[in-house]
Amino acid sequence: TSSMKKIGLSIAISFILTGAHADDNTLTRATGAPVGDNQNSQTAGPQGPTLLQDHHLLEKLAHFDRERIPERVVHARGTGAFGMFKATSDLTDLTRAAPFQDIGKETPVFVRFSSVIHGNHSPETLRDPRGFAVKFYTEQGNWDLVGNNFPVFFIRDAMKFPDMVHSLKPDPKTNIQDAARALEFFSHVPESTQMLTLLYSPLGIPTNYREMNGSGVHAFKFVNEACQQQYVKFTWKSRQGNHGLTREQAAEIQASNFNHMTDDLYKHINDGDYPVWDLYVQVLDPAQVDNFDFNPLDTTKTWPEQLIPAQKVGELTLNRVPDNFFQATEQAAFAPSNMIPGIEPSEDRMLQGRLFSYADTQRYRLGINHLSLPINAPKAAVHSYNQDGAGYSPAKSGSVNYQPSEVTGSYVDNASYKACPTPLQGGTQQIPFQKTQNFKQAGDLYRSFSERDQTELAEAFAGDLKTVSNDKVRNTIASYLYKADAEYGTRVAKLAGADLAQVKALAAAYAD
Ligand code: HEM
Repeated sequence: TSSMKKIGLSIAISFILTGAHADDNTLTRATGAPVGDNQNSQTAGPQGPTLLQDHHLLEKLAHFDRERIPERVVHARGTGAFGMFKATSDLTDLTRAAPFQDIGKETPVFVRFSSVIHGNHSPETLRDPRGFAVKFYTEQGNWDLVGNNFPVFFIRDAMKFPDMVHSLKPDPKTNIQDAARALEFFSHVPESTQMLTLLYSPLGIPTNYREMNGSGVHAFKFVNEACQQQYVKFTWKSRQGNHGLTREQAAEIQASNFNHMTDDLYKHINDGDYPVWDLYVQVLDPAQVDNFDFNPLDTTKTWPEQLIPAQKVGELTLNRVPDNFFQATEQAAFAPSNMIPGIEPSEDRMLQGRLFSYADTQRYRLGINHLSLPINAPKAAVHSYNQDGAGYSPAKSGSVNYQPSEVTGSYVDNASYKACPTPLQGGTQQIPFQKTQNFKQAGDLYRSFSERDQTELAEAFAGDLKTVSNDKVRNTIASYLYKADAEYGTRVAKLAGADLAQVKALAAAYAD
């Protein structure tokens, strides 16, 4: 026995010695086994073929073959950063949402900025809306505010989203983006006039991500301990300003650098010059929702601050660049359905569609256990009986994976977190919004722009509109702009070669 013990000891010692690679920089396989030669495949003799037994080679190639996951169907090109949200108001009277419970309360965040239409490595100089998605890691779970730089959207019903995106994406025949296809789609969507006005203005090519505002776009609901509900809109105002590029400036940048927005953000954060945004909320009592000449639950409308004042409630600072792009920025899964107690969805038809779409695409893009990936895992404890599935799921123990159970320590639902009751009226139906007001805010927006921005907008819009060969489409789009503001419509119509008499006749027939 004593010699067997000695053998055991010497095996253990030699394991510790040869196992030292874990602490030094010896290359290993994914299994932890050290790699002796990472330059030469195993072959049968000097000229012979490569051997199937070279498991390091097979593993290396097989893993490489699977490096890509499907990119996001929209917003594929993005840049992320970590930071901190600090509440500057106590909103306990309005909401029980964790980040707003105390002045000075800090909640860690991950933010992903993005462009929308083109792929993962597309130029950051393109004219496109920009995503501004914020994941709050609160002690009551993760809250995602998945917004854009613009405060409105092109459409007001989720039913139109796939068609809209198809028209904006490259032509399925040529794989080339074609403004004429998108403008044909939008000629059937007069409510897109305000968003198109933003998109063709210099703000459609933001200077960089730091100098860019953000918006939750939809009305959400704030709900307090007593289940009292308020509609709320969220806006991020950049302390660095809200600036865009002219077409000439963008072309010049793109010629030398198509990553300028990522470069700018990373450089400033790495230099300790942290960008800061102030969070504003606008709060609307549901009893007031019919008191406006527009529908406050329509994503193509802002809530003008003269009508519904904004108050500052917090500050967001971005202070750390991720160590690994894929694990943070690419694997991040933001979903409007990731809400916490105190924040509930409004009846906004776009938001209702988004509540389904994001988690659904993420089950496909990242797998059913994507919420266990480090970037998505909550800082709050997860007590869930969801089980198994492909991909990594966190360690579980015990025999109870059903609910309710008498077993001590098993999880219980807690009635204080029930959804608040919402009064509804009417039967099911399928009809468009009754208050449309498709053009008024677009006209106000045009008139708020500087002379330089108006000119840039008119020229950029007309540049695309004149590529449309269908006269009806060209005149219809110009008529929407004319209805918003006669000068705006006239300028674009003339530059794009639309028929001004037709444009005026069409516009005269529209409600405001
Ligand atoms: C990304 C759908 C409207 C902002 C996405 C993704 C889908 C999607 C499927 C990819 C998500 C992923 O792979 O992780 C929709 C649908 C919409 C809609 C169906 C309308 C019904 C909007 C609106 C906004 C918005 C109105 C702005 C308020 C974003 C952002 C991302 C995104 C910021 C990127 C999130 C990230 O950085 O990972 N959208 N979207 N979307 N969407 Fe939407």
